Amino acid sequence: MAETLAIYPGSFDPITKGHLDLIDRGCRLFENLIVAVLINLDKEPLFSVDERVDMLRQSTQHKKNVSVDTFTGLLVDYAAKRKANAILRGIRAFSDYDYEFQMALMNHKLSPNIETVFLMPAESYTYISSRLVREIFRLGGSVKDLVPPVVDERLRQKALTSKE
Ligand code: PNS
Repeated sequence: MAETLAIYPGSFDPITKGHLDLIDRGCRLFENLIVAVLINLDKEPLFSVDERVDMLRQSTQHKKNVSVDTFTGLLVDYAAKRKANAILRGIRAFSDYDYEFQMALMNHKLSPNIETVFLMPAESYTYISSRLVREIFRLGGSVKDLVPPVVDERLRQKALTSKE
């Protein structure tokens, strides 16, 4: 049987402890896991793609079967290019379900050979999202418990440089 390879795609702006929990679970299920950051020119992100990739690499460097990459265009095309068998996505709550269900069905329509696998993070991470992390940061709150140390450090640097 061919080796199992999953793509874990997302914006990761920024990576949270919930994302890391999913990566942890994914790399135990699949022989190889590629965390793929979408290059989305329409959005104005908090962190550049290079910064996000860098933080992801620092947070996952101890995991031998995890790599970090970027992609543009359709996810299913990227997955085919990397010869992946699965797309990994996290579901935290019912509110995620609509969007994830629609995306999984559309990806399946576009490329019937690729399966979407959903995993739940630990219960303690179900309320964390990158959007809320950005909002708390912008309003001066602490996100220390929500993100890996490297992200917290970068956010503190950002806060300092924006005050200068
Ligand atoms: O972390 P996000 O922002 O929820 O991730 C969304 C992502 C990157 C998985 C999704 O927007 C995506 O796959 N974009 C690539 C373009 C694409 O394939 N669109 C059709 C999806 S059905």
